[in-house]
Amino acid sequence: MSALTQTTTTPLRPLRPRIGVIVGSTRPVRIGRQIADVVADVVADSVADVVADVTAESVADVVTHHAREDDRSHAVLLDLREIALPFLDEPTPPSSGERTLTHSRAWSETVSGLDGCIFVTSEYNGGYPAPLKNAIDFLKEEWAGLPSAIVSYGGAGGKSAAAQLRTVLTQLRVDLAEVDPAIRVRSRHYGEDRTLLNAAEVVAGSADSLRAALGWVAERAGARAQRPAA
Ligand SMILES: Cc1cc2nc3c(=O)[nH]c(=O)nc-3n(C[C@H](O)[C@H](O)[C@H](O)COP(=O)(O)O)c2cc1C
Repeated sequence: MSALTQTTTTPLRPLRPRIGVIVGSTRPVRIGRQIADVVADVVADSVADVVADVTAESVADVVTHHAREDDRSHAVLLDLREIALPFLDEPTPPSSGERTLTHSRAWSETVSGLDGCIFVTSEYNGGYPAPLKNAIDFLKEEWAGLPSAIVSYGGAGGKSAAAQLRTVLTQLRVDLAEVDPAIRVRSRHYGEDRTLLNAAEVVAGSADSLRAALGWVAERAGARAQRPAA
C-alpha cells in the first residue's frame, strides 16, 4: 500500500480553517479590541468543534495538508489600528485586480489567505467606522465568497452599523451568515478609563447568536480549507 493510499484510510487531523477577526475601531482608547479578543476565543471554540467532526476521507490532498497544517491557526486578529492602512491610495480601482503598493499587496495577501472572516464593528453616529470602510475598499475579488459574519456592538447593539456594513459586504458578494450578533454595551460596563471592566461578560449577553453565526462561519470555512489550492 502506498503512503498516499494509507493516509486516505487513516484518520488524520484535517486542515484547520484560518478565520480573520477584523477589529474595525482604531481609536486610541477603545473597547473594540477587547470585544474582538473574546470573539476570537469563540471562533477558536467553533472551529475546534468543526475540526473534530472531519476525518481524512474529506482531505483531498494529503501532501498539501501536511504542508499547510503547521502554519495555520484558528483565529487571526486583524487589528486595523495595527495594520494602519493609509486612505485608499492605489492609482487604479480595486476591480482592476492590480495591487501596486506594498501595503495593498500585504492586505490583499492577508485576506486572500483567509477561509472565513468576522467583522467586529462599533457604531459611530449610526454607521460603522471609516477605517473599516477604507480597509474593505482596498480590495474587491478577495472578499467574494468569503464566509463571514458581522458582530456589532453599541448602546443598542450597533444594529444600524451592522445593517450598513451588510449592504456593503453584500455588494462585494461576501458569503454572510444570516444572523448579525449585536452586543449591547451599557454605561455600567465601562470603567473609569473608558474600557470595559469585563469584556467576556458583555459578550456573553449575545452568546447564543454569536455561537450560531460563528459556528456557521466555521462550518463553511472548514469546507473551504479542505479545498485543493487553486
Ligand atoms: C464618534 C462616535 C460616535 C458614536 N455614535 C454612537 C452611535 O451612533 N450609537 C451607539 O450605540 N454608540 C455610539 N457611540 C458610542 C460607542 O458605542 C462607544 O464609544 C464605543 O466604545 C465605541 O467603540 P470603540 O471604543 O471600539 O471605538 C459613539 C462613539 C463615538 C466615538
